[in-house]
Amino acid sequence: MPLPPKWSLGYHQSRYSYKSEKEVRELVETFKAKRVPLDAIYLDIHYMDEYRVFTFDSNRFPNPKKLIEELRKDGIRVVPIVDPGVKAGENYPIYREETNESHFCKYSKGDVYHGDVWPGRSAFPDFTNEKTRRWWGKQHKFYTDLGIEGVWNDMNEPSVFNETKTMDLAVIHENNGQPKTHGELHNIYGMMMGATTHEGLKDELANKRPFVLIRAGYAGIQRYATVWTGDNRSFWEHLQMALPMCMNLELSGVAFCGPDVGGFANDSNGELLTRWTQVGLFTPYFRNHSVLNSIHQELWSFGTRYEEMIKRYIEERYVWLPYLYNVFKEASRTGMPVMRPLLLEFPYDEQTVNIYDQFMVGEDVLVAPILTPSTNHRVVYLPEGTWIDYWTDQKRVGGKYHLVYADIDTLPIFIKEGAIIPLTAPKASTNEKDKQLFIHLYPQANESKSYTLYEDDGLSLNHETGACFECDIHMEASADQLTITTHEKINGYSPDWEERIFIIHGAIKEENIRLNDKMQFVSRILIKDNAHDS
Ligand code: GLC
Repeated sequence: MPLPPKWSLGYHQSRYSYKSEKEVRELVETFKAKRVPLDAIYLDIHYMDEYRVFTFDSNRFPNPKKLIEELRKDGIRVVPIVDPGVKAGENYPIYREETNESHFCKYSKGDVYHGDVWPGRSAFPDFTNEKTRRWWGKQHKFYTDLGIEGVWNDMNEPSVFNETKTMDLAVIHENNGQPKTHGELHNIYGMMMGATTHEGLKDELANKRPFVLIRAGYAGIQRYATVWTGDNRSFWEHLQMALPMCMNLELSGVAFCGPDVGGFANDSNGELLTRWTQVGLFTPYFRNHSVLNSIHQELWSFGTRYEEMIKRYIEERYVWLPYLYNVFKEASRTGMPVMRPLLLEFPYDEQTVNIYDQFMVGEDVLVAPILTPSTNHRVVYLPEGTWIDYWTDQKRVGGKYHLVYADIDTLPIFIKEGAIIPLTAPKASTNEKDKQLFIHLYPQANESKSYTLYEDDGLSLNHETGACFECDIHMEASADQLTITTHEKINGYSPDWEERIFIIHGAIKEENIRLNDKMQFVSRILIKDNAHDS
């Protein structure tokens, strides 16, 4: 997968639909007034003129460019939905006769296939054809000219409102001169739409990284898009299922994925949304989305008690972004998942094989969320080693099961002893600079550990030609001594951090710490010694 833009890793708010400019502005004002971080707002199908893709409804959204520009100043991006179904009707340029003839899927006799979707009778671009991909890709200028950098592709299986729920299998795809039936190419149709959107945006965005969210794909979709797991429901069972769904996607190469947080269909509630947002903190993709006519599920919808807890977890997402971004960097280099089943990190530990209600983030962080209502305890399996509670620094011995207490305000997070974890302070959006970088060290006696800290501008493609920062951090611990060595490997980019603070978790005296620091900026050492064993 390509390294995603950082803003796509922030917190995203969606709803089917925020139906007008007024509603969008009110939403943003509430986020601002309540000081809840936010990086993106989604426009579902109501933004369009009768659901015609590449249009805005001029009554509901009289000046999208101005709206998008103003939101952008607050660090918020707008992501509109674009489905494959093109509304039939000659007065609509995308559907006009000549494009109709050359770009839409047809039967063998040449008549265009039509199916019903949100706009009513619609035709579907033949994304198996290079020529059509270029044509559709270019249409995205409509959005990029308005300041849009990300697009949400939905219904791209393609979904059709009929008995079979998809396109007639007898439809022929031109497939660059090697015609095949839809029956043969159904599985790649959705992915080719993602490829088209990605390439179209990339061409128009010059040097900026595009973002595409997609529902349907195939092996390889990670090269083009982020996958969300479709229309779940606001059920505890669907929160539970989200974990194995995402881990299976991750093992299949799709490192950037996530469920609709809070559940899409049916009505959510404060407790479910709180627990789901806690999971969302660590799912690679983090978006709250809900269906038309369901109860609203923005974080303030269920009273201040839940609101405060949910806000804290959204803020925590921003705290973890440096660590997460580094895991994404690894995914982009090697394909390793971001959200990992335990068996991937501990393949020789048989206990891990069937665990699907806990997961790893990168190699050093274990997350064991509460996934049932009215529950404040759960069993957590900790593999071999020592594990440190992220919130309390309490140490636990691995290789066994623990009964862990976690009230509604607590997501159990465990750090593997020996880890190096870069974190920062909460902020309004990824648009704000990280002034401080906190490098948390969890030294393990008589062991050493190296960590490569990666950073770049988070927005452009310049990192591909060396505009990035990479620094090795090495820590070596004896029973009572700690040596930290840093070594800048690549300095083609200057990170924003004005201050870099090493936070050492453990009973080590300051005079026993040696810092061989080769990094160019200020550093401090803090010792956090409230560890106790259990
Ligand atoms: C589909 C999508 C959902 C979206 C809705 C309306 O059900 O999966 O996310 O809100 O269509 O566009």
